[in-house]
Amino acid sequence: MSDHNISKLWGGRFEESIDEYVELFTASVNFDRRLYRHDIEGSKAHARMLAHAGVLSEKDCQAILEGLDKIQYEIEHDQFEWSVSLEDVHMNIEARLTELIGPAGKKLHTGRSRNDQIATDIRLWLRDEIDYLIAELVRVRKALLDLAEKEADTIMPGFTHLQVAMPVTFGHHLLAWYEMFARDSARLRDARRRVNVMPLGAAALAGTTYPIDRAYTASLLGFEGISTNSLDAVSDRDFAIESCSAAALIMTHLSRMSEELILWASAQFGFVELPDRFCTGSSIMPQKKNPDVPELLRGKTGRVNGDLINLLTLMKGQPLAYNKDNQEDKEPLFDAIDTVRASLHIFADLIPVIEPRRERMRMAAMQGYATATDLADYLVRKGVPFRDAHEIVGKAVRFAIEQKRDLSELTMNELQTFSSEIHEDVFDILTLEGSVSARSHLGGTAPNAVRARIDEARVMLSNE
Ligand code: ARG
Repeated sequence: MSDHNISKLWGGRFEESIDEYVELFTASVNFDRRLYRHDIEGSKAHARMLAHAGVLSEKDCQAILEGLDKIQYEIEHDQFEWSVSLEDVHMNIEARLTELIGPAGKKLHTGRSRNDQIATDIRLWLRDEIDYLIAELVRVRKALLDLAEKEADTIMPGFTHLQVAMPVTFGHHLLAWYEMFARDSARLRDARRRVNVMPLGAAALAGTTYPIDRAYTASLLGFEGISTNSLDAVSDRDFAIESCSAAALIMTHLSRMSEELILWASAQFGFVELPDRFCTGSSIMPQKKNPDVPELLRGKTGRVNGDLINLLTLMKGQPLAYNKDNQEDKEPLFDAIDTVRASLHIFADLIPVIEPRRERMRMAAMQGYATATDLADYLVRKGVPFRDAHEIVGKAVRFAIEQKRDLSELTMNELQTFSSEIHEDVFDILTLEGSVSARSHLGGTAPNAVRARIDEARVMLSNE
């Protein structure tokens, strides 16, 4: 590396240059440079605060602000030369600032350390990312509500143990996904409040002797809170871990949904068709149409879980205050956010184009004796104790299986051999429609309960 002998910003107490490989090993600029915008934003606010507090002259402050704008322009127009020997994003920008504006550039770091600087950068960056994720979640949730509304009356089998259990409406199933993503949104909003706290002023670990005005900097940067302990502010990354955990749960939900889409798109289920543009073919088997998007999604969940474990492990053994270990927080955090970002984006695009195969869903619901519980409930209403009713219906189902017929296809005479309490009105409850519409309470699967929840969810969404 040709630039490795450039004198370091911290070089004062050193007698020999850094080992070339150590320099490479300790540098973070190759990944933390993506924080440049937030680093510059934080530096500008810090400079303005220093001028406001009388620590920096207005003239120097102006020069710093203009220099930082110029640097941002250079970075965004590929004119900025990043240097590994300048270690990280902070020192690359500071060195260039001094190059551009002279001695005033060297005053920017007054009353600040890279320790509170990086903690600030990550929080500013993460705050923006959380806002983006929340917006993508809104798209996903709206898409689910729209589809659920169209499918509020569609009958499908509900499963437990992946065995047909009871009929449900497809709209209700879609709303189950909606609820998971609604909680994910709430979790992100909650995490955001703890992310949006300003560490600047903590300096290296103990604060600073300059007459800083932390509230002033915080208001410039839109922070809702100011850290109340300098040691904690520079060292803990719980806000990143918490956000990563929220990301892992989002992936978990997307992954469960993916698993169902994969099953449903198979010939064996045939409940949905995914449009060609979201699938790929096989290079050897001409007939194949593979649900790659949900499969990849399911796979990517492992990455984000790994990122979460990575961050938790990174933190667990660190004594107060800042340790270089924390430089390792960025890559897993970036990876988790990038992955969940892309995943939400593609699902928000995919959900509106899922094509339900209503006939297939209905046939599957009919084949599984899904209304057996309804028959038991019917007998209970006629005064039969539930355990006896369970036994009676079990026998009726066994008979129907032998006959290869559905319960609703048995004759009145046949049904009455199992219980004299069975009468003509039984056919109302043995139908799939009768079964679902009987479950019309809050949270139930009946079409009217589904529509009520959709209306409520739309109102909640518009008030978020
Ligand atoms: N690159 C460092 C990080 O990511 C910045 C803070 C470095 N501070 C220090 N004293 N070496 O955490």
